[in-house]
Amino acid sequence: MNIGKLRLDGNLLLAPMSGVTNLPFRLLCKKYGAKLVYSEMTFSEAIVRENRKSMKRGFTCTEERPLGIQLLGSNPDTMARSAVILQERFMPDLIDINLGCPAKNIIKNECGSALLKKPELIGEIVEKLTQSLDTPLTAKMRVLDNPEKTLEIARIIEKAGASALVVHGRTPKQGYSGTSSHAIIKSIKNGLSIPVIANGDIRDEKTAMHVLEYTQCDGLMIGRAAIGNPYIFRRISHYLDTGEILPERTFGERLDDFFEYAALCRKYDVLAYSDLKLKAQRFLRNKENIKPVREKINYARDIDSIMGTMEGLRSGKLG
Ligand SMILES: Cc1cc2nc3c(=O)[nH]c(=O)nc-3n(C[C@H](O)[C@H](O)[C@H](O)COP(=O)(O)O)c2cc1C
Repeated sequence: MNIGKLRLDGNLLLAPMSGVTNLPFRLLCKKYGAKLVYSEMTFSEAIVRENRKSMKRGFTCTEERPLGIQLLGSNPDTMARSAVILQERFMPDLIDINLGCPAKNIIKNECGSALLKKPELIGEIVEKLTQSLDTPLTAKMRVLDNPEKTLEIARIIEKAGASALVVHGRTPKQGYSGTSSHAIIKSIKNGLSIPVIANGDIRDEKTAMHVLEYTQCDGLMIGRAAIGNPYIFRRISHYLDTGEILPERTFGERLDDFFEYAALCRKYDVLAYSDLKLKAQRFLRNKENIKPVREKINYARDIDSIMGTMEGLRSGKLG
């Protein structure tokens, strides 16, 4: 799949997820076959102010490329200025505009999915950014209840110069409940010439194949199913290439992934208590008969106790 001047040798993408897709996690997904990974969303206003925490979200390394950095905002000038800063500082392979976040504090600031109510402003933002950047620009949107209106917005995004569009088939009102409408995604794919990437409810090999065949989209973006399970990219790409389902990953292999994640966090100096706790819990997902271990992780007060509990599991002393 090509996104503007960016050439990808596959079509599986890791979704941007705030609080989840830090550099170590992206590297693991990349290792298992994600062909394009995205940073967590970054506020344009914070980038313009050179806020340290927000700037850190753009941090990358050669092994993870290509990288997309996602921008959140609503003022076309500020967004363009921040995009140029990110382009110069991190040289991302693409910059993406968030048109989907349904969180209350984001909507209050008229960003994310609130922009879907202002198609003209979306057009202005996309046009301003494409004119200001050498980097390809993409957008990631949610759908509206009305498929025609959704397609209208998608067409505005294409006409204003975006190189690709990611569509999450849920409305802002749905949040993360209900199902993603692959039918609306299909109608958008039919109505545009730029690559369209389907997102929402791709959980495994079968759903991936179904969404790809049904929508005829150019690529698939995977979010929640990769949390605690970056190996999903290997499973899905193997299935799409061969039609074969790989054997279940052993629990030991899943733990190896967790320890690799923790080592990468140390390497890139982003090891953090709350993140490690969340990731440990997700890597233990679906494992039976380890309730005491889960409780230990829940009550762990620091990084050492989380690591100690996970070491105990690995060595067979726990669980
Ligand atoms: C914890 C979490 C954080 C998210 N953060 C972002 C974000 O920063 N930017 C964005 O465009 N979408 C964000 N999303 C939405 C996902 O990118 C994706 O569109 C959504 O989860 C649907 O895909 P899935 O069914 O594969 O998870 C987030 C989702 C989750 C669960």
